[in-house]
Amino acid sequence: MQKAREDILSRFILASEEDPETMNDRYLRDIVLSFLIAGKDTTADTLSWFFYMLCKNPVVQDKVASEIEESVEWAQEDNMETFTTRLKQGAIDKMHCLHATLTETLRLYPAVPVDGKMADEDDVLPNGYRVIIGDGMNYMIYAMGRMKYLWGEDAEEFRPERWLANGVFQQESPYKFVSFNAGPRICLGKEFAYRQMKIMAATLIHFFRFILEDESKGPIYKTMFTLHMDKGLYLFAQHRKISA
Ligand code: HEM
Repeated sequence: MQKAREDILSRFILASEEDPETMNDRYLRDIVLSFLIAGKDTTADTLSWFFYMLCKNPVVQDKVASEIEESVEWAQEDNMETFTTRLKQGAIDKMHCLHATLTETLRLYPAVPVDGKMADEDDVLPNGYRVIIGDGMNYMIYAMGRMKYLWGEDAEEFRPERWLANGVFQQESPYKFVSFNAGPRICLGKEFAYRQMKIMAATLIHFFRFILEDESKGPIYKTMFTLHMDKGLYLFAQHRKISA
């Protein structure tokens, strides 16, 4: 018997059979489009910055690699495909250091660096500032991630351990760590994004150690709606020796 497909779209199609009137083809089309627009460049850009930071911080790269090795029930004969199938939710949940490293990357290099809002009605902001219906405003996610006022004197430093207490990941208020927005319109794909990025990162880091192709070149920002790295990131991948 053919195994039922378990990807997100297949699940939506299955759910649409229960309510075909609301979840019609147009609805499914919109879901696919919004997932692609909201979820593709955001996670891809974050992974580029993440691997860049791992190359700049090889001690962190090795720590993340050890954690992956300890969290997954892997076998010496695993290839990338079989290893990925071992990355079940239980194993992913144990990867606190990887979670912290991705979060620290998103603090310094938020995939959405500036986010815009528009007033739906006349209002007064908490600081007393008046806004009129239709007024637009932006909040600077990139700048907020680097404010000493919010993160302390070492705000500009890459320190994943700021997110850990006794090795356990500590959430921050989404109004302080704003990379996923906050409040009722917080990113719907946040957990999905972490899962996807953790699976990709864990698989690559388990098998390879990464170094920059050219240490002398810094990455150049290409700010669009998302925070791209101009011309991509060139790395060398060396086979990682895995302890038996
Ligand atoms: C690192 C990855 C991601 C980051 C940093 C991120 C960030 C954000 C931000 C800042 C917003 C608010 C935009 C606004 O104010 O209009 C947002 C909204 C949204 N995101 Fe993400 N996102 C990520 C990944 C994803 C993924 C993987 C998906 C889905 C597969 C997704 C789905 C959405 C959706 C549907 C919204 C709109 C929510 C609403 O307006 O109610 N995101 N995201």
